[in-house]
Amino acid sequence: MSDKPETKAVSLGRMSDSHFGAVNTPVYRASTILYPDLAALKANKQPYTYGRRGTPTTRSFEEAIAGLEGAAKVAVCTSGLQAIGLAILSVCGAGDHLLMVDSCYEPTRILCERTLKRFGIETSYYPPTDDIAKHLRPNTRAVFCESPGSLTFEVQDIPAIVKTAHAAGAMVLMDNTWATPVFFRPLAHGVDLSIQAATKYVGGHADVMLGYVAANESVAARLHETHGNLGLFASGDDCYLGLRGLRTLAVRLARHQETGLALARWLQARPEIARILHPGLESDPGHALWKRDFSGACGLFGVILKPVSDAAVAAFVDGLQHFGIGYSWGGFESLIVPAHISRTVSAFHTDGPVLRIHAGLEDAGDLIADLEQGLERLKAS
Ligand SMILES: Cc1ncc(COP(=O)(O)O)c(C=O)c1O
Repeated sequence: MSDKPETKAVSLGRMSDSHFGAVNTPVYRASTILYPDLAALKANKQPYTYGRRGTPTTRSFEEAIAGLEGAAKVAVCTSGLQAIGLAILSVCGAGDHLLMVDSCYEPTRILCERTLKRFGIETSYYPPTDDIAKHLRPNTRAVFCESPGSLTFEVQDIPAIVKTAHAAGAMVLMDNTWATPVFFRPLAHGVDLSIQAATKYVGGHADVMLGYVAANESVAARLHETHGNLGLFASGDDCYLGLRGLRTLAVRLARHQETGLALARWLQARPEIARILHPGLESDPGHALWKRDFSGACGLFGVILKPVSDAAVAAFVDGLQHFGIGYSWGGFESLIVPAHISRTVSAFHTDGPVLRIHAGLEDAGDLIADLEQGLERLKAS
């Protein structure tokens, strides 16, 4: 098999021989799976045993992801947030310390503060670009990374974090939703558990909730066991959509990247903008690290406006024709949403409001014209 993600995304996880030549594995809806006799039931060696433990549709998706991630084990979930919880619970238990990046996706912070805490997992935070050595504790079991960070897009030095964490006996977990395994392969950089909200680019069409955790050999058995014990899975329909999305992931990402950079560059030159948060821009503080470790950028980036009133922001955003107002991202459509940045140990100060833009697959010229008219409304209001 080629090592190119484009080829892998198209070729892996096919089971055409078992499905009358159909290129994609069809949707299997199953709870009960029959055994031919009692001996087979006792031996429990069938590839499929019970719906929750997977069907050919699930397996096709897992196999394709395992190839792309270079993983020993992939566990699918019904959302990205569920995958984050699964990854943490696979390695941490009562009395353990979890070192969490301060630029994490906000629901990850809430999960740690409100739920994991009740089970004796203690979380503290580190600034995304800090050397983690000074934040480690004797009971640090895992270091959680998200690079670039949610809303603020700081790039982390993953190989350095891995080196320090492993030397201290801690595992490294990474939310890699922004880059996907097409633009960054966490396990190849030493990360132990790679997490993906497949709801975003893998699904790619804003119509499925899906997540997964991909593990290297050292933690594969723990992931498998925790996933099974918690009863986690994803439906045949959703795995089918994930696999279908995966087939075009690389070409979609190439276009998201191109349009995202075009919008970011255009916005950067506008007088209404204070700063663009996009590691693909040469001016970004994370650009050198991004260039060293990543092979591309997706279509998601941040915009810090110069100070303006809420009414001016609303005049800009509400009148946009091609940018929907909504959470999530990674679908074919452009989106814009205000970003509320919250931090525990590393304040991220801005004078003006912050917006998060997702560059979709529309024509870049149309999107820029839309933004231009929006900024005229902002100025006029
Ligand atoms: C970086 C990141 N990780 C995880 C998630 C959670 O994914 P899901 O919505 O599928 O739970 C999101 C959702 O926005 C996200 O932006």
